[in-house]
Amino acid sequence: MSRFREDPDPRFWRLNRSVDFDRRLAPYDLIQSRAHAAALNRIGVISDEELPELDRALAEILDEVESGRFEFLPADEDVHMAVERRLGDLVGALAGKLHTGRSRNDQVATDIAMAAIAHSKRAVSLIRTTMGELLDLARRHRDWAMPGYTHLQRAQPVYLGHHLLAFFWMLSRDATRFQAAAEAASVMPLGSGALAGVNWEIDRRGVAAELGFKGITPNSLDSTSNRDFILDYLSAASICTTHLSRLGSELVVWSSTEFGFCRIAEPFTSGSSIMPQKQNPDSAELLRAKAPRVIGDMTTLLGVMHALPLAYGKDMQEDKEPFFDAVDTVEASLEMTAGILEGIVFDRERLVDAAGDEMLAATEVADLLVRRGMPFRQAHGIVGGLVRLCVEDGRSLSELTLEEVRLESELLDDEYYEVLRQSSWLESKRSEGGTSSESLSRQIDLASEVLAGLS
Ligand code: ARG
Repeated sequence: MSRFREDPDPRFWRLNRSVDFDRRLAPYDLIQSRAHAAALNRIGVISDEELPELDRALAEILDEVESGRFEFLPADEDVHMAVERRLGDLVGALAGKLHTGRSRNDQVATDIAMAAIAHSKRAVSLIRTTMGELLDLARRHRDWAMPGYTHLQRAQPVYLGHHLLAFFWMLSRDATRFQAAAEAASVMPLGSGALAGVNWEIDRRGVAAELGFKGITPNSLDSTSNRDFILDYLSAASICTTHLSRLGSELVVWSSTEFGFCRIAEPFTSGSSIMPQKQNPDSAELLRAKAPRVIGDMTTLLGVMHALPLAYGKDMQEDKEPFFDAVDTVEASLEMTAGILEGIVFDRERLVDAAGDEMLAATEVADLLVRRGMPFRQAHGIVGGLVRLCVEDGRSLSELTLEEVRLESELLDDEYYEVLRQSSWLESKRSEGGTSSESLSRQIDLASEVLAGLS
């Protein structure tokens, strides 16, 4: 018997049926159900004889799910109904006792919170591996000079190790954001019922502890209609894939023949179907392209949640596809990034050559004038004049005669030529967080500490 006389229209069922994507919640649903059954047993709703029977059947279903033997039927509306149907096959009417004191609304919120915790932790672990690769590369290339860029125009030289660590710090902030997403998901909704709470004195805190939650939600309405923690995950994932897209972009540019700064290992490149000579950096290009997709996932869920009246609405079933799409994208992207970094080879000569561009020392000359008492703005103009002189007749800054130089400013003398020697431009950046060897070595120590403390 049911309230309904008619079956759902297929045109509705096609959109309503969620098993194609919420099947991924099945393991969490079963673990949750085992804890819920035990809690029902503690308040006498399920007897001591019934509990082992239910628990064995739930364990069997979990095994079927994990081994891929579980069969979803066309009439299963969602993962929760599919599990309940299968439980009925195994234990008969007893299956019906399990839904005491529980609604699919707090059930699904709990499942997805468990998934959010698991995948946030997984992201942190993958980020840790990638940070390890970056730190290792930074150590091995700590004294390789290269041009640093702004506007993708040569700006000032930096050490390659310093440049690589820039990405290390981006990822370390990403790890913090994923940790925060896990934290936000770690209050258990179960026990909130459909929206108002339940009529049974279930030990919510005990169930929470058993399921690995740190606490329980304080308001049943908020609890059953809250998906903030998924938004937190998606936000962390959006920023993380955005960082990876910037790395991908640099690798595309750096591995071009024009730059020739690095070579991506063959297994992470593809050939062309027509041009036999090509080796394309497809992996880096894909890293570049994945961020907007994840941002789209976040925008989708923000759109679903905005203006939604309390409490649960079926709209919220639409949280799963964007979440799992982001999970798959961010996890695959992080794994691939670690792989690319593992096999990447840099070309020291090309880097040093590019860093040897004397124009990169323009700021150094301006600072020399400042040390001699000239305001920086004015010094900037003087050096600009020297650069224009060079550009006009194809000379480098050190090819200008002292006479020509002093025509621009009397404050300049032989030290002008000294400042133009390459290594001094790098080693003079001694400020904390700067590129000089001394600062970089402190930064590497700090990065090792941060990495060691990341769990
Ligand atoms: N499949 C649903 C979802 O993911 C489960 C909750 C259904 N609740 C309801 N009252 N129809 O949101």
